[in-house]
Amino acid sequence: MKTINYNNSEIRFGNLTESGFNSVLNSERFKSSKKIIITDETVFELWMEHFVTEFDGLSEAEIIQLPAGESTKSLEICQQVWEALSEYEIGRNDLIINIGGGMITDLGGFIAATFKRGVSFINVPTTLLAQVDASVGGKTGIDLGPFKNQIGVFADADYVFIDTAYLSTLADIEIESGYAEMLKHGLIAYKNYWSDLIKTKPQKNSKHLLDLIRTSVSIKRDIVAEDHEEYGKRKNLNFGHTVGHALEGLMLVNNTPIPHGYGVAWGMIAESYLSKESKLLTVAEFTEIDTGLRSIYPPLKINESAIPQLMKLMLNDKKNVNNKINFTLLSGIGNAIHNQVLPNEKVEAALRFILNPSA
Ligand code: GLY
Repeated sequence: MKTINYNNSEIRFGNLTESGFNSVLNSERFKSSKKIIITDETVFELWMEHFVTEFDGLSEAEIIQLPAGESTKSLEICQQVWEALSEYEIGRNDLIINIGGGMITDLGGFIAATFKRGVSFINVPTTLLAQVDASVGGKTGIDLGPFKNQIGVFADADYVFIDTAYLSTLADIEIESGYAEMLKHGLIAYKNYWSDLIKTKPQKNSKHLLDLIRTSVSIKRDIVAEDHEEYGKRKNLNFGHTVGHALEGLMLVNNTPIPHGYGVAWGMIAESYLSKESKLLTVAEFTEIDTGLRSIYPPLKINESAIPQLMKLMLNDKKNVNNKINFTLLSGIGNAIHNQVLPNEKVEAALRFILNPSA
């Protein structure tokens, strides 16, 4: 077990028993804390019996089980959970344990950070996307109608426990989705890591997956430790997300949702194209990224007629400044550069490049 620390957060890797999950629950700090588990119905069905029987620190925990899916990240659900915490007489010395994917770690972290001005919380992410991204770095929040993560606070989990055993029940599509964020980490910060990932391809049963996750978390930690609240360098983590969020948003409106990572992967192709057009990336580097990502992520079912809608979605992005679409681009594989503003015609050309004429 190797641990990664930053701020006051400790991220532990490997089998939950060996990495000391139960010892933390029974530690001096938490042994007399009331424990509340926040989870969703899918994770409840699959894993809750295992958690409450395997770890005696959870044997008396109250369990709050929420509907699965992004629509749970709402103010109405927060209010219900805050009221439940009040009924359980949860105080500032108690402990919330978020067990689930990014929806649960975002929402549960926000609930913990705001209840009585802050209750300690632990994240146990059970999806690859949450293990490499959502559960670490202190972004918590909920959606405001169609706008994702509009309400939130920066608050770090006291501990994050990352165990790949919980990935065994995920569909391949969910592994591919998380893998896109890992590929992003390579592209923005570590060329050899990108090359390894693109050679290896997403495999949930790989012996090396935990090492790869640890590399991703350590890349993210280094960035977040330098710029926790995203005034500068943390924007590098948004590579692929300006176009990616628009693609995801459009597919959602069309009732054909795509996994977050698929949007990010195609977003990374478009934003690499923009990096090449801006002479930040060579043609050879661009081709390597384009070919590599297309070998994993299936073509989108969106054609060029959607370009105006996609542009509108990008103009609404909360990362923009002064109504200009704000991009993070690549300046070589393994290096990123943020706050790049480009003319709309160039952005439209990049969209044309990734869209599918026959869709
Ligand atoms: N998901 C990007 C970040 O944590 O900044």
